[in-house]
Amino acid sequence: MAPMPLKQLTTLCSSKPSPVTTLLFFIIICVLGFYTFHSSSSSSFFATSSLRNSVRYRQFLLSSASNYTVASYLRSLTLHPHLAGTEPSSETVRYVESHFRDLGFETHSIRYDALLSYPKYASLTARLPNGSVVQIPLSENVEGVVNPYHAYSPSGTAYGVAVFVNYGRDEDYRTLAAMGVTVAGCIAVARKGEFPRSVVVAKAEANGVKGVLLYTDSDGYRQGFERGTVMRGIGDPLSPGWAAIDGAERLNLNDSEVLRKFPKIPSMPLSAEAAEIILSSLDTASVPPEWRDTTVKLGTAAVGPGGPTYLNFTYQAEKKIATIHNVLAVIKGLEEPDRFVIMGNHRDAWSFGAVDPNSGTAALLDIARRFSLLRKLGWSPRRTLLLCSWDAEEFGMIGSTEWVEQNIVNLGTKAVAYLNVDCAVQGPGFFSGATPQLDDLLHEVTAQVEDPDVKGATVYDTWTATNGIGNIERLGALNSDFAAFVQHAGVPSIDVYYGRDFPVYHTAFDTYDWMASYGDPLFHRHAAVGSIWGLLALRLADDLILPFSYVSYANQLQAYRDILNDILDGSVSLQSLSTSIHEFKSAAEEIEKEAKRLREQETFTAVALFQTRALNDRLMLAERGFLDVDGLRGHTWFKHLVYGPSSDYESALAYFPGIADAISESMKMNQSEGQGVIQHEIWRVVRAITRAAAALKGELS
Ligand SMILES: *[C@@H]1O[C@H](CO)[C@@H](O)[C@H](O)[C@H]1NC(C)=O
Ligand SMILES: *[C@@H]1O[C@H](CO)[C@@H](O)[C@H](O)[C@H]1NC(C)=O
Ligand SMILES: *[C@@H]1O[C@H](CO)[C@@H](O)[C@H](O)[C@H]1NC(C)=O
Ligand SMILES: *[C@@H]1O[C@H](CO)[C@@H](O)[C@H](O)[C@H]1NC(C)=O
Ligand SMILES: *[C@@H]1O[C@H](CO)[C@@H](O)[C@H](O)[C@H]1NC(C)=O
Repeated sequence: MAPMPLKQLTTLCSSKPSPVTTLLFFIIICVLGFYTFHSSSSSSFFATSSLRNSVRYRQFLLSSASNYTVASYLRSLTLHPHLAGTEPSSETVRYVESHFRDLGFETHSIRYDALLSYPKYASLTARLPNGSVVQIPLSENVEGVVNPYHAYSPSGTAYGVAVFVNYGRDEDYRTLAAMGVTVAGCIAVARKGEFPRSVVVAKAEANGVKGVLLYTDSDGYRQGFERGTVMRGIGDPLSPGWAAIDGAERLNLNDSEVLRKFPKIPSMPLSAEAAEIILSSLDTASVPPEWRDTTVKLGTAAVGPGGPTYLNFTYQAEKKIATIHNVLAVIKGLEEPDRFVIMGNHRDAWSFGAVDPNSGTAALLDIARRFSLLRKLGWSPRRTLLLCSWDAEEFGMIGSTEWVEQNIVNLGTKAVAYLNVDCAVQGPGFFSGATPQLDDLLHEVTAQVEDPDVKGATVYDTWTATNGIGNIERLGALNSDFAAFVQHAGVPSIDVYYGRDFPVYHTAFDTYDWMASYGDPLFHRHAAVGSIWGLLALRLADDLILPFSYVSYANQLQAYRDILNDILDGSVSLQSLSTSIHEFKSAAEEIEKEAKRLREQETFTAVALFQTRALNDRLMLAERGFLDVDGLRGHTWFKHLVYGPSSDYESALAYFPGIADAISESMKMNQSEGQGVIQHEIWRVVRAITRAAAALKGELS
């Protein structure tokens, strides 16, 4: 797009920046406008000037941050609850679509029909030991918000004795067994811990429990119910591995593969207040002290005259095929349109979604606004940028997963990186996750963004001071839309957010007012996330040589090897693993030297440009080396052998999921058989690392 005349450009700044920002803004526009005007006529087939320009575009991106616009987008998005597959959700589809369109972006809305799940009826009564029968409240009763439920919980009635199972982990059931408590036939009251709801329910089921009531510890918002999915796995349950497009093959609801994903016993969220009615009536005098460390008052009296507390729990669900929409804005790359940098956030929410996920949506829409300003200054990204608004994440990352499945070949050959933001702002403090080749980029980018809470400091300064450098999470969990990108497609990915553990999570109280009162009163954190996210995208889309460091990946793998070594304590040889990591590290160091040589070139001949393209392809494809066609044992959709969900949520390993599971399984085997199983999984990881090294080297053997 041609640069715009200055007069029009100044009117673009419709937000309300301070006079100083306005002046700065104006100067930058003049400089950039002038510069692009002059450089565009003289650019050769590859403009080195565009390299210098890209620095200015980045500065412009930062200076165009506006807490006002991002707040206004959030307000519009959160006017109504917008659960996936419902009419109010379609309104948010139209809102995002028209925002992208109005900014002049090529916009697509991609439709899928996926199996979702909604509540129809629920009731819970308790007969307390003193004989009184109480109706337990099961909703916050907020107009328009779906009643609390667990998506994909089966319908059913469960009647039995209430038993407190703490977090519902294996060790908790062992503790109960040691106390002589039989949980089979009971109704479990559990509190939400680290691992997914689906796991809590699965473990309860395995212990013979008839129904599960899950509450969340919380000091405030004690009437809040944490909705959530209990599906095991990811994506549309009826189209596992392929996209749920119109006319696609769909498995029967009764197909064993589909049934395997759903729990067999009903479950339901409880508020802390509701849980307290039950728990305070129980005899928990002999539970371990750690169990008592809950915000809910536990009973201590010996079993009362009427005996234990009986619960009568009924839940009626409706599973139905519902229409969902991903909305995508595409900014075509100028030089490398067939290389993709993908930014994504989900749009669907359990209630109003001010934190989860629309703080991220507001940031995405604000980045679109900022990108459109850049475009008016003459910017086109080198590579194609996609801004994606996913649907039905809350049910199991369905929108993003269907899209990844639909585009698997093009993503596998052409996707450079995926940048995810889910809840952009939950409170104070910067947090991030990444595949390790992007660690350095995260450090560089956060060092360029002002800390929204500490004057004079960058995000990097406070992040590293409070959370410690290197504290970047990895992306092996199944809790946001990066899952399909990393764990199925092997796309290098980043996830960023502010704050964690906010009290209104998945409740009816996740509103704009909560955000404006507690989460981010001045919306500066939103603006900061937008700056970080946008800058990451600009670097990945515009840098001539991709800003990846595989040395950092190699160091991470080495650290994993060392921990594994401690866990296995010499029982299984790690020689082959060490060798493969060593090989990977040499390849990483070599490609870093090559990249440095290319970066130092002043002018780019056609040959040098093809060399950079070839080098970038090696950098892009190395992550794909960690994929294995056969996938993880027992859940073969997950192809990544370094990052993915292990079946054993209590494993000490948060990576190498195949090895983690083999270690757990080996406990049930004799020594030689157990070692064999572990050794085999180590060999698979060795081969994966060797493939990644070969991709970095880029040569045939
Ligand atoms: C039984 O206990 C509950 C909770 O402590 C109390 O609210 C209720 O009044 C009691 N009912 C009777 C009949 O004592
Ligand atoms: C699934 O099985 C149930 C019970 O066996 C049956 O009533 C129902 O019609 C089946 N549904 C489909 C879609 O086949
Ligand atoms: C449990 O509740 C259901 C529905 O409210 C009722 O039909 C059933 O009789 C109750 N069962 C017991 C044992 O109280
Ligand atoms: C934006 O930031 C300014 C300066 O801190 C503040 O006065 C204003 O209230 C903020 N706007 C919003 C919508 O929070
Ligand atoms: C270990 O178990 C396997 C399979 O159950 C069996 O074939 C093998 O003989 C056992 N080895 C020893 C040393 O007990």
